[in-house]
Amino acid sequence: MKGLRPRRAGVHWRQPQPHKTMVATAPLEIPEINPSPRVQEFLSATRPLLINGEWKAAASGETFAVYNPASGAEIAQVAEGGAEDINQAVAAARKVFDDPSHAWNTMTPSERGKLIWKIGDLILEHADELAELESLDNGKPMGVAKVADVPLSADLFHYMAGWATKLEGNTIPISVPYAPGAKFHAFTVREPVGVVGQIIPWNFPLLMAAWKLGPVLATGNCVVLKPAEQTPLTALRLGEILQEAGVPDGVVNIVTGMGETAGAALAAHDDVDKVAFTGSTEVGKMIVNAAAGNLKKVTLELGGKSPNIIFKDTDDLEATIAGAASAIFFNHGQCCCAGSRLYVEKDIFDDVVQGVSAAADAIKLGPGLAADTEMGPLVSDEQLERVTGYMNAGQEAGANCVTGGTRRGDSGYFVSPTVITDARDDMSIVREEIFGPVVVADPFDDPEEIIARGNDSTYGLAAGIWTRDIAKAHRTAARLRAGTVWVNCYNIFDAALPFGGYKQSGWGREMGHEVLDLYTETKAVCLGL
Ligand code: NAI
Ligand code: MG
Repeated sequence: MKGLRPRRAGVHWRQPQPHKTMVATAPLEIPEINPSPRVQEFLSATRPLLINGEWKAAASGETFAVYNPASGAEIAQVAEGGAEDINQAVAAARKVFDDPSHAWNTMTPSERGKLIWKIGDLILEHADELAELESLDNGKPMGVAKVADVPLSADLFHYMAGWATKLEGNTIPISVPYAPGAKFHAFTVREPVGVVGQIIPWNFPLLMAAWKLGPVLATGNCVVLKPAEQTPLTALRLGEILQEAGVPDGVVNIVTGMGETAGAALAAHDDVDKVAFTGSTEVGKMIVNAAAGNLKKVTLELGGKSPNIIFKDTDDLEATIAGAASAIFFNHGQCCCAGSRLYVEKDIFDDVVQGVSAAADAIKLGPGLAADTEMGPLVSDEQLERVTGYMNAGQEAGANCVTGGTRRGDSGYFVSPTVITDARDDMSIVREEIFGPVVVADPFDDPEEIIARGNDSTYGLAAGIWTRDIAKAHRTAARLRAGTVWVNCYNIFDAALPFGGYKQSGWGREMGHEVLDLYTETKAVCLGL
């Protein structure tokens, strides 16, 4: 999508502006709600960077504004880190990593595990505050942040704590044909990769920080984390929690700033051994190029256009419809794994479309802080522009908007949950990631043909299948080219379950024990006896 306002370092590039897209705007009453005194206090000071255990202003002295997406009003100023701050943060991480006598490197695995466990405990202790801050910054309902984002973040640290003591190598019997009679003792050890750069998005700001930092700490690496410029607040609060838990200075450094400056400097840095990125496929490719200079390891968790396939023999139509609605509308569709292509077997297509549309119409829109809000605003004016742009494109291309298709209200970044039918497979709304509450539904006849259509995407992040025929579920799951396949459920996440993409949805996996391989090097040690 072209035509978005350019980001410029050092200025408030996301000033709320009158919105100029073609989609209609339907009215929406948006109550104003003040944050709690505790959160107001956090917001009242310019939030600094965390480098080498010190909270400090950016080297340039620049700051940027953070906005409440429910109103477009500025809520905080945050230090705008750039290349110089990234240099300092990488140097701090490198100094810790390279010093064998540093407390981080002499800590036993058991001590490290206990420290990581404590981070999980502290997150739960501060659950209300974190949920409120997340809601205010990102726009998601506070109730959702409290039951999903915050406990999942805590659970990730609790899960990873257990791995600190279980990073084992192997003893390997070797034969060495050119050294007859010689004896060897050979084994492998798992060592941390080194200094890691992590760049995260705004859709689950705290949870993405947890997904990234948990394995870094479990495997004994050092890190520079760059949160998304739209939503830097909970990562900064998490930085305080890490200090409270006792993470030594310099192990975790947090540099807020723009992607094009701070993010790009981190991805290209010659003293960074690995970069882990979550965000757009477009920027993912730039990260790969930037990493080529020193061939740093790269893991990527990118976009998706996930097929959600409902067979007519689905067990419980009502539950299936609720599942299909939640697959796309959860987190306002701002999920890389959102079930955005809904394929329904012909006999029940009309019922499902009607059901999902009714569910869309029933969703209560409002600011995240309001207790009865079920869906908040999109995260930014940039995303509002992008999502309404797709709504326009679909309507102009002749697709049928069953419900939604409008912006809501004229302040804040709200859109209606939207259901579209009669789209062709070559339309942008079918091919591209919209990252908003917009689902494209299409009927199918042939259970074989739908597998090919499901796979007809440059992405391969997730897929859904709804059927009571267990053999069909397995057959279909086996042939869908996706990192996660949910059967009779959707958006089920767990710290123990690996998550990541096939095709252009990424490289590597987050969570589970798979992620640990991506934060360790294997060293083979061979002893002549
Ligand atoms: P983005 O990919 O630009 O931003 C993600 C992160 O990358 C942010 O921290 C950003 O500061 C950083 N970044 C941006 N440009 C960079 C660069 N040149 N070098 C290093 N880091 C850089 O995503 P954006 O613009 O916020 O959203 C655009 C689209 O990306 C969304 O509409 C959605 O389709 C997709 N997206 C996918 C996500 C996922 O979970 N896979 C999350 C966020 C966005
Ligand atoms: Mg971007």
